[in-house]
Amino acid sequence: MLQNFNAMLADAYKNHYAIGSFNVYNYETIKGVMQAGKETGRPVIVAFGAKYLTNMDLEDVVAVTRALEMKQGLPVCLHLDHCAKLDVIYRAIRAGFTSVMYDGSALPYAENIANTKLVCDIAHACGVSVEAELGSLAAGEHSHEGTADDKEIYTDPKAAADFIKATGVDALAVSVGTVHGMYKGTPNVRVDITKAINEACGIPLVLHGGSGTPEDKIRGCIENGVTKINVNTEISVYTVDKTAERLAAEGKKPHLSELALMQQGAVAEVVKKYMAFFEGR
Ligand code: 13P
Repeated sequence: MLQNFNAMLADAYKNHYAIGSFNVYNYETIKGVMQAGKETGRPVIVAFGAKYLTNMDLEDVVAVTRALEMKQGLPVCLHLDHCAKLDVIYRAIRAGFTSVMYDGSALPYAENIANTKLVCDIAHACGVSVEAELGSLAAGEHSHEGTADDKEIYTDPKAAADFIKATGVDALAVSVGTVHGMYKGTPNVRVDITKAINEACGIPLVLHGGSGTPEDKIRGCIENGVTKINVNTEISVYTVDKTAERLAAEGKKPHLSELALMQQGAVAEVVKKYMAFFEGR
């Protein structure tokens, strides 16, 4: 059965590792993430961003993930990533998502609190875990989620502690210098701010913008409460590069079914690389 992320993140928090939350958009990406979980024997979070509702609808994501999870024999959480619309959150819960992220980070603080609390009350009554966000990430290269206007606003530790108390949220996404997309220059990830947030909050923290984040910074964040790390851009960049290489190398056009299998394998490869980083292997 699909599960929420609470038991997974509690274990990761206690034992200082992080679970990867990998973005999916179609059958091949869902299967690739599951394949990585199966080959490593590790739990996975399959993350479907509300942005990709034109690729798959919520019920189809649940149906495919459930069917694959039954063969997996390992913990799988199906998480709705970055969603600012309350009606979509409620539809995802009804469809069978086991975890949701309400992203009210662009709203005034009090409004973000009020909406997040509403989501927590409903989601928790249904056994669904909730992530919310305070602060905001800038966008790097090839980002499909961020925009050039996105400003980096670091999460304030005191505001984060008050936010958690007022909402009852299960995990908090923080802004500590990672970006959505690949980094344009040297990443300036602030482990010191992560530490201050962790000391003030004491609940699992979430790092968005995992793609391209240096391993030592990832480790520093994990040592200071980060238990869930999101990866999107590199899954896409790596798989598109592999597809382009294959198309350039072939004398004749490959069949679409062969390309689809190759893409599933490429997704599994990049996911396994991040899983190893996140567990310090
Ligand atoms: P990247 O695209 O930088 O990996 O970030 C993914 C993310 O934060 C999804 O919520």
